[in-house]
Amino acid sequence: MTEYKRKEFFDDPTGIPLDELDFSSSRLFESGTAWLPYFERLRNEDPIHYQKDSPFGPFWSITKFRDIQFVDKNNKLFSAEPSIVMGDVILDEKIVEMFIAMDNPRHDTQRAAVQNVVQPTTLAALEPLIRERIGGILDSLPEGEAFDWVDKVSIELTGRMLATLFDFPQEERRTLTYWSDLGLSLPELTDGNTDPDERIEGLMECLSRFTEIWHQKAELSQEELEKNIDLVSMFIRTEKTKDMVERPLEYLGNLLLLIIGGNDTTRNSLTGGVLAMHQNPEAFELLKSDLSLIPNMVPEIIRWQTPLTYMRRIALQDVELGGKLIKKGDKVVMWYVSGNRDEEVIETPNKLVIDRKNARQHLSFGFGIHRCMGNRLAEMQIRVTWEEIMKRFSKLEVVKDPVYVQSNFVKGYSEMMVKLTRK
Ligand code: HEM
Repeated sequence: MTEYKRKEFFDDPTGIPLDELDFSSSRLFESGTAWLPYFERLRNEDPIHYQKDSPFGPFWSITKFRDIQFVDKNNKLFSAEPSIVMGDVILDEKIVEMFIAMDNPRHDTQRAAVQNVVQPTTLAALEPLIRERIGGILDSLPEGEAFDWVDKVSIELTGRMLATLFDFPQEERRTLTYWSDLGLSLPELTDGNTDPDERIEGLMECLSRFTEIWHQKAELSQEELEKNIDLVSMFIRTEKTKDMVERPLEYLGNLLLLIIGGNDTTRNSLTGGVLAMHQNPEAFELLKSDLSLIPNMVPEIIRWQTPLTYMRRIALQDVELGGKLIKKGDKVVMWYVSGNRDEEVIETPNKLVIDRKNARQHLSFGFGIHRCMGNRLAEMQIRVTWEEIMKRFSKLEVVKDPVYVQSNFVKGYSEMMVKLTRK
């Protein structure tokens, strides 16, 4: 990758040959909007696009809604192994294995073992706790004075939720956030200077802490375990996972998948929702006049934000798609962020339309066997947050451009200054 190509990202891509644009750059999402015209060009000019050089080698970009669905659903044609990010690892394979990057039959067995944690009865039991916690957070916010929504609300809330899900001490919740950040701090995603030793050390600390928690829970009576709604208790009382602690790589993989899965994505949807409202003031006015729109607004926010920009696959055989020949072994990137702005499927896709029909028709949670396992939990957290926001505030102003995360995978915010007016 030459310096010249990198510089082009900050310019208008109009007129630049597609072959000279790098769609893998972590800087594309850092400026907040640069990605929009890039992917619009791909959708219009070359929706299944082969980029022959990138820091991650050659790859295909799939950019239209229906083509993305096709790839995601056809898990016999496209493999999620060994990694779902452009670079070849998400976490050193020798350390952990996650079912998000496994094909069947292993995937289904592992997913079945943990999916009770997000079953409807657990979610129903969690909802009052979430409501109480978000209420507490919102009540503590300053009025009429700018503060960082990311730190004070989004991170705080998702941290508290994770601590609840794992029955981890609330006062140490930021450690969970730290482990999640470490899990995603790969140079492959950020172009950043992550210290590999710090990562390994942090992740080992995570395993050792949760091994301790496991042994404490294992002392509980069967009756007590049955009552608990935390993840570790569920692992212990479920036949397939009751001895998972003896398979540390699998245990750590499952922990990290849930910690990471439930953290950045929800966090950035909570921040993105406020930004979307700020940029679409008519949506906020409509919401004020009809709070029953909140459940429909939630998937619309998740579409608008698209917290994970893509998932990657490898073709298991030659596949013809949209007139292009994807060869066996080729790397394929499903750009959810682009499919969610595909005008052929979603009208006025750049707008937040909270009463949109078919708001659930979006790609942010993926499709097929890997479809997000925590989608209902995420939606519930975002819904409850907005219900509690609307009880308290008449105005939410974003007073400065947010600071966006530099990553080609996580579409999110590291800071967003907000001023509130209470009712
Ligand atoms: C707005 C919030 C969220 C978004 C946008 C999101 C997005 C995604 C996406 C795109 C996938 C991969 C889908 C595919 O390959 O087809 C995924 C998988 C997954 N997510 Fe989420 N996620 C969110 C929240 C959560 C939460 C709260 C949890 C955990 C409690 C979670 C746990 C998982 C797990 C375990 C998988 C792997 C599923 C599998 O491979 O079978 N996610 N998520």
